[in-house]
Amino acid sequence: MKLLQLKTTLHQFDDCADFAKEFDIGAEDLILTNEFIYQPHFGALGLGADVLYQEKYGAGEPSDEMAEAIHANMKGNYRRIIAIGGGTVIDLAKIFALKNVLPVADLFDRKLDIVKDKGLVLVPTTCGTGSEVTNISILELKDRHVKLGLAVDELYADAAVLIPRLAEGLPFRFFAASSIDALIHAVESSVSPKANVYTKLFGHRAVRMIVAGYREIAEKGPEARLPLLGDFLVASNFAGAAFGNAGAGAVHAMSYPLGGKYHVAHGEANYALFNKVFERYLAQKRDGAIAEIGTVLADALACDLVDAFRDLEKLLAEILVRKPLREYGVTREDLRIFTDNVMTRQGRLMANNFVPLDTADVMAIYEELY
Ligand SMILES: NC(=O)c1ccc[n+]([C@@H]2O[C@H](COP(=O)([O-])OP(=O)(O)OC[C@H]3O[C@@H](n4cnc5c(N)ncnc54)[C@H](O)[C@@H]3O)[C@@H](O)[C@H]2O)c1
Ligand SMILES: [Fe+2]
Repeated sequence: MKLLQLKTTLHQFDDCADFAKEFDIGAEDLILTNEFIYQPHFGALGLGADVLYQEKYGAGEPSDEMAEAIHANMKGNYRRIIAIGGGTVIDLAKIFALKNVLPVADLFDRKLDIVKDKGLVLVPTTCGTGSEVTNISILELKDRHVKLGLAVDELYADAAVLIPRLAEGLPFRFFAASSIDALIHAVESSVSPKANVYTKLFGHRAVRMIVAGYREIAEKGPEARLPLLGDFLVASNFAGAAFGNAGAGAVHAMSYPLGGKYHVAHGEANYALFNKVFERYLAQKRDGAIAEIGTVLADALACDLVDAFRDLEKLLAEILVRKPLREYGVTREDLRIFTDNVMTRQGRLMANNFVPLDTADVMAIYEELY
């Protein structure tokens, strides 16, 4: 049984110019980014690379349509693809390191030969998806109204680069959603049947770092996140290493239809599902990996083990308001359709659940959260 694979070299810089110099960024590179991140940090450096701004190709999280529109503007034979942005930019960039990309739906249906023919450098600017160290790209397939993941080793980056300064301009609500996503990566992967002593090393540490950061922010206010951004980037990277190997589970599986149909930000969609999925796990089994992560949480929250998930929920409520599903526009009819999608299309994730969840469980969780 494979325990842990990390294929990506990790780097950290204080300064963007040092990154550009050490990576010798130049004319043979394509940089996919956002103008409002690139211009203040890299604009004056005159790097000579081709630069495409993701926001010019559509709003919100990434889709096959967005990927195809960007691909049409790629000039050709790049040596490397460099992504500087959140999970949206990174997940798009990952597939551009492949030789065969079009049509993107065929790529995701595994009908195309998967060949990596370019270098891939990923610089996350949210706190975050951990996508810089995973082999997954997640896109919405527009005509199916659903988010799907493509997980193949050709999507591993050659290098992941952490530059905390880049996350300083990240608005609090995106900081909140992306770091809750990282927390959920760490917690879900720690109770996956594929979790092991190595993945838990990363996952448990990520939980400690994120909870400690949230307690500081809850006490001192949103600005308290700024000196902690380096910790959050590392924690999100650790959580990526954990879930990239042990997998995410039902929280992610159940959030994809919500994100796909109602365009709820990924981290926020996960947050909407998180507590009830874990309540359902705990109702069936309280020992084993869920008690281990509960102990980590209790320690980080300075509470008793029995209160760990409840106190986590209270702390998260200080960071982001959790909404019932109907406030996103979800209808009762959707609940059945979402459940069907989870049970038929999200098997990759549902295989990682702490205890098996069947159709009735999934439907009941959606109903409780409606
Ligand atoms: N491949 C993986 O392993 C993996 C894991 C988790 C999530 N994801 C995917 O990642 C996506 C979500 O990514 P995300 O949470 O990083 O959000 P995001 O990339 O969608 O960014 C959220 C918003 O913040 C803006 N932004 C990003 N960085 C900024 C900065 N430094 N300053 C100012 N604004 C900034 C973006 O333009 C966007 O408007 C989803 O599509 C999700 O499915 C992928
Ligand atoms: Fe996620």
